[in-house]
Amino acid sequence: MKTSASFFAVVASLMPTLTMGFVSAPWVIPNIPKNGLQDIIFPFSIADAPHKEGFYFRQQFAFNGRAEPAYTGLQPRPDDANGKPIINAALASFMPGTTSADSNCLPANDGRPGVRCSVDFSGPYDHVYNIEVRNTKGTTWNGTLVDAVTGQRVHVGSFTLPAGTGGIVGARDGFIEYFKWADGMTCAELPKTTIVFGTPKTMTHGAGAGSVGTAFDYGDCLGVSGFKEQKTALGTQVTVGLA
Ligand SMILES: *[C@@H]1O[C@H](CO)[C@@H](O)[C@H](O)[C@H]1NC(C)=O
Repeated sequence: MKTSASFFAVVASLMPTLTMGFVSAPWVIPNIPKNGLQDIIFPFSIADAPHKEGFYFRQQFAFNGRAEPAYTGLQPRPDDANGKPIINAALASFMPGTTSADSNCLPANDGRPGVRCSVDFSGPYDHVYNIEVRNTKGTTWNGTLVDAVTGQRVHVGSFTLPAGTGGIVGARDGFIEYFKWADGMTCAELPKTTIVFGTPKTMTHGAGAGSVGTAFDYGDCLGVSGFKEQKTALGTQVTVGLA
């Protein structure tokens, strides 16, 4: 049978890509008021992440009385045609009954309920970015990315959770995921990247100071993905990937 490079290129482009999870990084905020937190701030540093699409660095947080968490995080993107760095910031809730009229948000639309909000912005990779998620009214939450160096604010999105959903509860995890995992890829081919999941903060009255736990690797590449973790002044720094 005659085969050619272009044949393989076409087949490769048709191969489905999967999302694979590699690392979990826990955090805690103690002394949560009875109604939950009314805001949470997650710092991120992706200073040492390649400017390539594939990784999603996300923090997960949950609400009083509901099991389904929400997510917020950053995804590196290729630099634009002028060499300006582009980063994607996301906010999502897959809780059934989540609604949004925000122009940054769309129905989750991959067979899941809920909404996914996202925005591309240009900003230096070596700045810390804080994503603030704040209750604005009732069960409506608003996500804003803040450049910790310049103070520049970028609207990420907003959504309304089902009536009766409480405030944010005090412990959950950050995750490193790779959404361009192709069939046949090996763990040694996972690109190398580094992220700091910063210690979360809140302005909610009465809540204690946040802390981060020890990150760990999991999943199909457990022990063979080049996973390393250490504490920095900002939080938990994780490196993963060998390629
Ligand atoms: C939501 O945050 C954006 C900035 O991200 C701000 O402009 C807007 O006023 C906020 N909305 C509410 C209802 O607080």
